[in-house]
Amino acid sequence: MTIRPILIAPHPTLRKKATKVATFDTELQVLVEDMLETMYDAPGIGLAAPQIGISQQILVMDCSDQAEAQNPVIMINPHVREKSGELEPYDEGCLSLPEYEITVERQCRATIDYQDVQGHAHSTTFEGLEARCALHEIDHLNGVMIIDYTSQLSRSRILRELRKKKTQEKPNNA
Ligand code: NI
Repeated sequence: MTIRPILIAPHPTLRKKATKVATFDTELQVLVEDMLETMYDAPGIGLAAPQIGISQQILVMDCSDQAEAQNPVIMINPHVREKSGELEPYDEGCLSLPEYEITVERQCRATIDYQDVQGHAHSTTFEGLEARCALHEIDHLNGVMIIDYTSQLSRSRILRELRKKKTQEKPNNA
Protein backbone atom coordinates (compact mmCIF):
# COMPACT_ATOMS: atom_id res chain seq x y z
CA MET A 1 0.00 0.00 0.00
CA THR A 2 1.19 3.48 -0.85
CA ILE A 3 0.30 6.87 0.53
CA ARG A 4 -0.49 9.04 -2.50
CA PRO A 5 -0.04 12.82 -2.59
CA ILE A 6 -3.29 14.76 -2.12
CA LEU A 7 -4.07 17.54 -4.61
CA ILE A 8 -4.65 20.95 -3.08
CA ALA A 9 -7.08 23.45 -4.65
CA PRO A 10 -6.98 25.08 -7.08
CA HIS A 11 -6.28 22.14 -9.41
CA PRO A 12 -8.11 21.32 -12.67
CA THR A 13 -8.60 17.62 -11.76
CA LEU A 14 -10.57 18.67 -8.66
CA ARG A 15 -13.04 20.45 -10.96
CA LYS A 16 -13.58 17.67 -13.50
CA LYS A 17 -16.52 15.28 -13.52
CA ALA A 18 -15.04 11.85 -12.79
CA THR A 19 -15.66 8.98 -15.22
CA LYS A 20 -17.40 5.74 -14.30
CA VAL A 21 -15.34 2.71 -13.36
CA ALA A 22 -15.91 -0.08 -15.89
CA THR A 23 -13.20 -2.59 -14.94
CA PHE A 24 -13.17 -4.22 -11.51
CA ASP A 25 -9.67 -5.66 -11.43
CA THR A 26 -6.61 -5.92 -9.17
CA GLU A 27 -5.54 -2.43 -10.21
CA LEU A 28 -8.78 -1.04 -8.77
CA GLN A 29 -8.26 -3.00 -5.52
CA VAL A 30 -4.75 -1.59 -5.15
CA LEU A 31 -6.02 1.94 -5.83
CA VAL A 32 -8.75 1.59 -3.18
CA GLU A 33 -6.22 0.26 -0.63
CA ASP A 34 -3.96 3.22 -1.40
CA MET A 35 -6.89 5.63 -0.99
CA LEU A 36 -7.73 4.18 2.43
CA GLU A 37 -4.11 4.37 3.56
CA THR A 38 -3.86 7.97 2.28
CA MET A 39 -7.08 8.93 4.08
CA TYR A 40 -6.07 7.36 7.42
CA ASP A 41 -2.61 8.91 7.18
CA ALA A 42 -3.90 12.45 6.45
CA PRO A 43 -5.94 11.93 8.72
CA GLY A 44 -9.36 12.38 7.18
CA ILE A 45 -12.79 10.72 7.26
CA GLY A 46 -13.28 10.65 3.50
CA LEU A 47 -11.34 10.77 0.25
CA ALA A 48 -12.45 10.83 -3.39
CA ALA A 49 -10.20 9.55 -6.22
CA PRO A 50 -9.93 12.98 -7.96
CA GLN A 51 -8.20 14.22 -4.79
CA ILE A 52 -5.24 11.98 -5.64
CA GLY A 53 -5.40 12.97 -9.31
CA ILE A 54 -7.51 10.06 -10.55
CA SER A 55 -10.67 11.24 -12.26
CA GLN A 56 -12.75 8.13 -11.61
CA GLN A 57 -15.91 7.61 -9.56
CA ILE A 58 -14.36 6.08 -6.44
CA LEU A 59 -14.64 7.20 -2.84
CA VAL A 60 -13.60 5.86 0.53
CA MET A 61 -14.75 6.98 3.96
CA ASP A 62 -14.59 5.99 7.60
CA CYS A 63 -16.64 8.00 10.08
CA SER A 64 -16.08 5.67 13.02
CA ASP A 65 -14.72 7.05 16.25
CA GLN A 66 -10.93 6.81 16.24
CA ALA A 67 -11.02 4.78 19.46
CA GLU A 68 -13.21 2.16 17.80
CA ALA A 69 -12.18 -0.37 15.20
CA GLN A 70 -11.87 0.90 11.64
CA ASN A 71 -15.03 0.78 9.59
CA PRO A 72 -14.05 1.60 6.00
CA VAL A 73 -16.79 2.22 3.44
CA ILE A 74 -15.83 1.93 -0.24
CA MET A 75 -18.13 3.16 -3.00
CA ILE A 76 -17.56 2.77 -6.72
CA ASN A 77 -19.85 4.64 -9.17
CA PRO A 78 -22.05 6.02 -6.35
CA HIS A 79 -25.40 7.57 -7.22
CA VAL A 80 -27.65 9.42 -4.78
CA ARG A 81 -31.05 7.77 -5.09
CA GLU A 82 -32.77 9.86 -2.42
CA LYS A 83 -32.04 12.52 0.16
CA SER A 84 -34.30 13.38 3.06
CA GLY A 85 -34.38 15.13 6.39
CA GLU A 86 -33.90 18.73 7.41
CA LEU A 87 -31.09 20.83 6.00
CA GLU A 88 -28.49 20.93 8.75
CA PRO A 89 -25.50 23.28 8.87
CA TYR A 90 -22.10 21.85 9.84
CA ASP A 91 -18.53 23.10 9.54
CA GLU A 92 -16.86 20.83 7.01
CA GLY A 93 -13.19 20.50 6.25
CA CYS A 94 -11.58 19.04 3.14
CA LEU A 95 -8.14 17.49 2.60
CA SER A 96 -7.85 19.52 -0.63
CA LEU A 97 -8.52 22.78 1.27
CA PRO A 98 -6.21 22.39 4.26
CA GLU A 99 -6.90 24.60 7.27
CA TYR A 100 -10.29 25.84 6.01
CA GLU A 101 -13.68 25.06 7.42
CA ILE A 102 -16.85 26.01 5.62
CA THR A 103 -20.41 25.78 6.90
CA VAL A 104 -22.34 23.52 4.54
CA GLU A 105 -26.05 22.80 4.81
CA ARG A 106 -26.96 19.26 3.82
CA GLN A 107 -29.83 16.86 4.30
CA CYS A 108 -28.44 14.25 6.62
CA ARG A 109 -30.14 11.14 5.37
CA ALA A 110 -29.18 9.75 1.99
CA THR A 111 -29.81 6.52 0.15
CA ILE A 112 -26.93 5.78 -2.19
CA ASP A 113 -26.63 3.12 -4.89
CA TYR A 114 -23.05 2.03 -5.53
CA GLN A 115 -20.83 -0.87 -6.42
CA ASP A 116 -18.18 -2.50 -4.26
CA VAL A 117 -14.64 -3.23 -5.36
CA GLN A 118 -15.80 -6.52 -6.94
CA GLY A 119 -18.50 -4.72 -8.92
CA HIS A 120 -21.44 -6.00 -6.85
CA ALA A 121 -24.35 -3.56 -6.51
CA HIS A 122 -25.46 -2.18 -3.15
CA SER A 123 -27.94 0.37 -1.87
CA THR A 124 -27.39 1.82 1.60
CA THR A 125 -29.13 4.52 3.61
CA PHE A 126 -26.64 6.64 5.51
CA GLU A 127 -27.48 9.04 8.31
CA GLY A 128 -25.83 11.88 10.16
CA LEU A 129 -22.09 12.31 9.68
CA GLU A 130 -21.86 9.29 7.33
CA ALA A 131 -24.51 10.77 5.03
CA ARG A 132 -22.78 14.15 5.11
CA CYS A 133 -19.40 12.62 4.39
CA ALA A 134 -20.76 10.51 1.51
CA LEU A 135 -22.46 13.57 -0.05
CA HIS A 136 -19.25 15.62 0.37
CA GLU A 137 -17.22 12.92 -1.43
CA ILE A 138 -19.85 12.47 -4.17
CA ASP A 139 -19.61 16.24 -4.73
CA HIS A 140 -15.89 15.73 -5.43
CA LEU A 141 -16.78 13.18 -8.14
CA ASN A 142 -18.83 15.94 -9.81
CA GLY A 143 -16.07 18.53 -9.50
CA VAL A 144 -17.87 20.29 -6.65
CA MET A 145 -16.06 21.42 -3.51
CA ILE A 146 -17.18 22.96 -0.21
CA ILE A 147 -16.02 26.39 -1.39
CA ASP A 148 -18.97 26.24 -3.80
CA TYR A 149 -21.33 26.50 -0.80
CA THR A 150 -19.90 29.83 0.29
CA SER A 151 -20.06 33.30 -1.23
CA GLN A 152 -18.17 34.20 -4.41
CA LEU A 153 -16.15 36.61 -2.29
CA SER A 154 -14.88 34.08 0.27
CA ARG A 155 -14.34 31.49 -2.49
CA SER A 156 -12.04 33.91 -4.35
CA ARG A 157 -10.24 34.81 -1.14
CA ILE A 158 -9.58 31.17 -0.18
CA LEU A 159 -8.36 30.26 -3.68
CA ARG A 160 -6.14 33.35 -3.76
CA GLU A 161 -4.59 32.38 -0.41
CA LEU A 162 -4.03 28.77 -1.52
CA ARG A 163 -2.48 29.91 -4.84
CA LYS A 164 -0.14 32.20 -2.94
CA LYS A 165 0.90 29.35 -0.63
CA LYS A 166 1.62 27.11 -3.65
CA THR A 167 3.85 29.77 -5.26
CA GLN A 168 5.74 30.24 -2.02
CA GLU A 169 6.31 26.49 -1.66
CA LYS A 170 7.53 25.98 -5.25
CA PRO A 171 11.21 27.03 -4.82
CA ASN A 172 11.67 24.37 -2.12
CA ASN A 173 10.11 21.60 -4.17
CA ALA A 174 11.91 22.44 -7.42
NI1 NI B 1 -13.19 17.04 0.46
